[in-house]
Amino acid sequence: MTRSLLIAASLLAADIGQLDVEVRAVDRAGADWIHVDVMDGRFVPEISFGPSVVRAVRKSTTLPVNVHLMIVEPERSLAAYADAGADHLLVQAEPGSTVHLHRVLSVIRELGKRPGVVIDPATPIAWITEVLHLVDIVLVMTVNPGFGGQAFLPEVLPKIAALREHCDARGLTPHIEVDGGEDAATAQRVTEAGADVMVAGNAVFGRPDYAAAIAAIRANAGSPI
Ligand code: DX5
Ligand code: ZN
Repeated sequence: MTRSLLIAASLLAADIGQLDVEVRAVDRAGADWIHVDVMDGRFVPEISFGPSVVRAVRKSTTLPVNVHLMIVEPERSLAAYADAGADHLLVQAEPGSTVHLHRVLSVIRELGKRPGVVIDPATPIAWITEVLHLVDIVLVMTVNPGFGGQAFLPEVLPKIAALREHCDARGLTPHIEVDGGEDAATAQRVTEAGADVMVAGNAVFGRPDYAAAIAAIRANAGSPI
């Protein structure tokens, strides 16, 4: 199947003092999704954005807002993020986040949003096989979550390939999104492994020309896969 690479620009690397300007700029520059990292100081050490930031982003763009919840007990705040205007709600698969993953993903669908499940580098595919039919997106972390600007972990590549193969064998077609340390140099490797969405923080917001940065990533993306 031919899949073109979608770019989800990660606001963690943006100038938050100018959130509206930054979101409009990456929208104009050709980003496909806006990625919002929610960190609660418990699942990961940092605290980042909450529903009010999602609400602000929603006002600045019509692009899908892709919300990555690095939090414990996401079930307590799904409705708040849905109400704030998130399009995609992605929850971590690890039991340190939620004990009832199947229920959480089902609730996201009931809220009218697109459910996604996230796996950390140490988390095997086996942890999500029983919920794959519930999700539109699998986000495979290519760094350990919690901070922007970390180095890409190439040892995750075989897991991406195995996940795509597993989905194909079952006739499932979720987006496979990769997150962490991604840039024009990793684009070919992750797309060849089977990813079709790339989160890019520093690789876009850290560059002077966002359109050129996005174009450089796309130019390196392998296609077809
Ligand atoms: C890390 C976050 C990422 C982060 C990626 O925990 O999930 O979305 O923004 O940043 P870069 O692309 O700069 O590695
Ligand atoms: Zn993220």
